[in-house]
Amino acid sequence: MVVGIIGSGAMGAGIAQVSAQNGCRTLVYDTDGTQLEKARMLISNGLAKSVDKKKISSDFRELTLSNLEFVNELHSLSDCDLVLEAIVEVKEIKKELFSRLAKSVKPDCVIATNTSSLSVASLASSLAHPNRFLGIHFFNPATLMPLVEIIPGLSTDSSVVKNCQNLLTSWGKTVVLAKDTPGFIVNRLARSYYSESIRIAEEQIADFATIDWALKTFGGFRMGPFELMDFIGNDVNYRVTESVWSQFFYEPRFKPSLTQQRLFESGFLGLKTGRGYYSYEEGASKPKAVEDPVLGQAIVERVLAMLINEAVDSYYLGIASAKDLDLAMEKGVNYPKGLLKWGEEMGWNKVLKVLQNLFDWYGEDRYRPCVLLKSLAEETKKIDW
Ligand code: NAI
Repeated sequence: MVVGIIGSGAMGAGIAQVSAQNGCRTLVYDTDGTQLEKARMLISNGLAKSVDKKKISSDFRELTLSNLEFVNELHSLSDCDLVLEAIVEVKEIKKELFSRLAKSVKPDCVIATNTSSLSVASLASSLAHPNRFLGIHFFNPATLMPLVEIIPGLSTDSSVVKNCQNLLTSWGKTVVLAKDTPGFIVNRLARSYYSESIRIAEEQIADFATIDWALKTFGGFRMGPFELMDFIGNDVNYRVTESVWSQFFYEPRFKPSLTQQRLFESGFLGLKTGRGYYSYEEGASKPKAVEDPVLGQAIVERVLAMLINEAVDSYYLGIASAKDLDLAMEKGVNYPKGLLKWGEEMGWNKVLKVLQNLFDWYGEDRYRPCVLLKSLAEETKKIDW
């Protein structure tokens, strides 16, 4: 199996390492030679560290490195069975690359995109053979995060999907299948974790530290939403939110917030700039949470009800199977539980009640419960696991 990776940035380098570690001859191409060399060093040094920590043998490191080749011509990918694109997130640049790439590869080569926000359909339209094109969405860092979302386009052959599922599973990845819709699974379902938390803070119901404390303490999340947004970067998070919102034709559930936009505009991007929702400057102390269990529980119920409603809606619309929707949140963003399982445990009636109260109180479409949630609460329908 020969795998080509285009783009050797954060994602491309990680995916290339995973491919090479799993015995595939892996060719990495980037237009920027400096970046290509950086990726080579990063992989080589990373593997050396793993040898030092006795996680892998030095033979395994050598073998992995011998499977990797860094090339500076697109034509060098002519022998590849699968080419995965991980270049800048700009539709026109990706489309231009695909139409050139299609002329360089074998007629049966599968081409995949690692895009997180563009539709597979829009990218497939640049290809004469969209039946061999699909989305293969890794999570950052690709070497550590087990989840991969596979997103077939409308024309993708089912055999292509199956072969990619088998290959990625053989690489040790947890593979889920998602419909070509904005945010696929994880980037859609996770939106309310951030947006509802920001909304609670904007309404001055609780401050950032209290909301983070509540979701960790009573929700069991590893990181609170504000810590997590500062970690991801408020630029990245804001752009994903805006993209999902506009692609859903401005559905109010996905509406971005001014709070996050202002942080983004001010360059307060979080950990990487020293300031976001919190300050990370020398000597800065983290604000203290108001540890009120009643308030904490109410915050968690509200955020969870929004998250679960989104999962139910995605299930209702056939975005993915119940099993894949839950697996994606556990393996892609380390949620303590899948959201549908969580809904079952919390009780559909309870979830519906929280949402209905919010809907009645605010009168906003954002809080309308999914019709399936109503049927689940009435026990006229069940999740088909
Ligand atoms: P990056 O900016 O770190 O790397 C992109 C690389 O592509 C650069 O090295 C650049 O020189 C190269 N490049 C740009 N145009 C090119 C072209 N025409 N031909 C060949 N190489 C070209 O980007 P990153 O973060 O690795 O993202 C890559 C893709 O993966 C994007 O589509 C992004 O949406 C997606 N993605 C990113 C995640 C993340 O957390 N960074 C997570 C999952 C998906």
